[in-house]
Amino acid sequence: MSYLFCSFAFPMQDELILSNNQTIPKTDKRQLYIESYGCAMNFSDSEIIGSIMSENGFEYTKDEFSADVIFLNTCAIRDNAEQKIRDRLKHLRNNKRKNSDLIIGVLGCMAERLKTKLLEEEKLVDIVAGPDSYRDLPNLVAEVETGNRAINVLLSREETYAEISPLRLNTNGISAFVSIMRGCDNMCSFCVVPFTRGRERSRDPQTILEEVKILGDNGYKEITLLGQNVDSYLWFGGGPKIDYKNASVEQKENAVSFAQLLEKVALVHPSMRIRFSTSHPKDINDDVLHTIAKYPNICNHIHLPAQSGSTRLLEAMNRTYSREWYLERINKIKEIIPNCSISCDIIAGFCSETEEDHQATLSLMEECKFIFSYMYKYSERPGTLAQKKMQDDVPEEIKSRRLTEIIEVQSKISLENNQKMIGKVVTVLIDSVSKKSEMDLCGRNDQNNIVVFPREDYQLGDYANVLIERATGTTLIGKAVK
Ligand code: 5AD
Ligand code: SF4
Repeated sequence: MSYLFCSFAFPMQDELILSNNQTIPKTDKRQLYIESYGCAMNFSDSEIIGSIMSENGFEYTKDEFSADVIFLNTCAIRDNAEQKIRDRLKHLRNNKRKNSDLIIGVLGCMAERLKTKLLEEEKLVDIVAGPDSYRDLPNLVAEVETGNRAINVLLSREETYAEISPLRLNTNGISAFVSIMRGCDNMCSFCVVPFTRGRERSRDPQTILEEVKILGDNGYKEITLLGQNVDSYLWFGGGPKIDYKNASVEQKENAVSFAQLLEKVALVHPSMRIRFSTSHPKDINDDVLHTIAKYPNICNHIHLPAQSGSTRLLEAMNRTYSREWYLERINKIKEIIPNCSISCDIIAGFCSETEEDHQATLSLMEECKFIFSYMYKYSERPGTLAQKKMQDDVPEEIKSRRLTEIIEVQSKISLENNQKMIGKVVTVLIDSVSKKSEMDLCGRNDQNNIVVFPREDYQLGDYANVLIERATGTTLIGKAVK
């Protein structure tokens, strides 16, 4: 807890008024409140930010109204993600009215994309900081305290925050994210990420293994290794990424690939579940698949975004693989890891998408039987290859209709997949209490299905063997068996 609840009165300047009108004394440390939006990488970055700020005299608070500093860690991947932040900033006017010293920072991808424009457009914002400038945040806050507004949007070719031990925020003490790399070199034509997160760079494997070890020693049962494209993880000893063919003999001998990293991580705590995201169809190789098959604690689930089922559109998207390539990878996964589930990202209505292209996406989904998909309408992003070179020419109502059809197909497949699980016993890592009933617990099996079952005497963090009795499109429901 970051503050004490007391019932007696304090001098006005030492009081804080919580959103529930409770009055509390301020501790010596300044209070930091962080809100994270978008992908898992942003949530992981917020924990790095929390750590940097706590080393510099700040204390994390869960109450926005007791905060001296509020950071919004933002996403820019689609227009509606940015819209959400603009709306949130409108609400924060209220906080500033209550506390005129409050400092508001916009961090992450939207900050990087808009740079000084964000300071011009949003008068409320004091700090704009891109994903590679988080070490500078204490200085930026100090700058604001001298009466200025502050910005740092420099991108780095080296920064991985490798040695920073993340401050686990809002943690359940069971699952944690571990960032293994930053940036992306892929230049998919629709995607703003290479512009907001910069060039790809891999984190020192030793620091990754240390972080995993500490998590396991502290009782964590599951970690997810994070990167925009984990399969292209390659450690050569630091610095900017080098093409493998340009590396020296010595560098090649000491290199660590993703498959090798995965193996090292699996061996740290053999009972700890290992997940990873996101994979790229062009980079996921058989070594990775054999490593997953070899270690029982590496979960049998791969998130492998296809984006489209049409080779023509995949080319326009600059994904650098064809429908056939994608299907070959799926077949290989099934051959090497027969129990492996696969999930997907799909975009509806990308530039020039025809009805035939759309049908190809639906048929790819039918063929691959994804366990779940994240499904989006194409949203044109300024500065991307698609925005510069192509026409966003699929009308809004057609995008919406196609997205609805994609969601319907996925819902049907998910229900079919889940119904096939009835009668089976699955091992669940319990990570939460069911939202619907306090009497039920919730967790995931190895393949990443959500499983709900009566609590009995199980605790959060336990493993339970659950006999599946019923299934919906999103959830397996059953009872624990000893
Ligand atoms: N419009 C819609 N979806 C997008 N994604 C990335 N850029 C866009 C965009 N401009 C989706 C892709 C990616 C996921 C993280 O977000 O499916 O895999
Ligand atoms: Fe964006 Fe493509 Fe990189 Fe994923 S792989 S972050 S979609 S550019």
